[in-house]
Amino acid sequence: MKIILIGDIVGKAGRKAVQKEIQNLRKQHNACFVIANGENMAGGAGLSESGCRDLHKSGVDVITSGDHVWDQKDFIQQITRMPFCLRPANMHTNLPGKGYAIYNIPIGGKIAVINLLTTVFMKIESSNAFEYADRIVEEVSKQTSTIFLDIHGEATSEKIAMGRYLEGRVTCVFGTHTHVQTADEQVFPGGTAYITDLGMVGSDISILGRKIAPVVKRFSTGIPSRFLVEDDQITIHGAVVEFDGDSGRATNIERIKLSIKDGVLNALP
Ligand SMILES: [Fe+2]
Ligand SMILES: [Fe+2]
Repeated sequence: MKIILIGDIVGKAGRKAVQKEIQNLRKQHNACFVIANGENMAGGAGLSESGCRDLHKSGVDVITSGDHVWDQKDFIQQITRMPFCLRPANMHTNLPGKGYAIYNIPIGGKIAVINLLTTVFMKIESSNAFEYADRIVEEVSKQTSTIFLDIHGEATSEKIAMGRYLEGRVTCVFGTHTHVQTADEQVFPGGTAYITDLGMVGSDISILGRKIAPVVKRFSTGIPSRFLVEDDQITIHGAVVEFDGDSGRATNIERIKLSIKDGVLNALP
């Protein structure tokens, strides 16, 4: 079985790129399921119900999130109506929404998808992701051996530690949040596919999906300015994970990097 993973979707242009291309990607890779991180889909900050539903209809099965999950004030109510949307599990327990869930795979079998936040260099409060991972993995393992974890965070070391911690217990640990794709994808000997960051669905001529000038101004002068989303020249970053549906062991992970330039799709080396 193959599953497509898509990195942080930034803004309307990012959403539209995924909506337009996801069915082609599914066919091209013969993938049976898609997980995408949507935390920047709404104007670059947070999620919207309409955006989530559009992505879901177009072929994204599960939408994960991260530290920006509540940036759009209405999403705290909206998430309860969309079981295909997850928020990080290790946030305050009284928050609405789920941090993990088990879904049916259309061609048969079940998949558990888990969303967790790291702690290092993150400005949002969260509980120990490793303890949460232990508890959740133990629980979902009773129902399926196909387990995917979106570990959302800044520090590469912390995300690699999570991958190694869960080696042999889950199918795949993939990182999100930095918007920069890492080239460290591998299948650990224990049968867990791993990548530190999938990257984003955002502009090539940007700083993490935002227009370049205001971000450079802020770093170089300290003067705050609005960080608008850049919507020109979008690249879809992600990965495809191949695994055995019975054992849940991963056999391969490959990065996706598809540039959409002048409306034409180009696979980059
Ligand atoms: Fe984030
Ligand atoms: Fe993000």
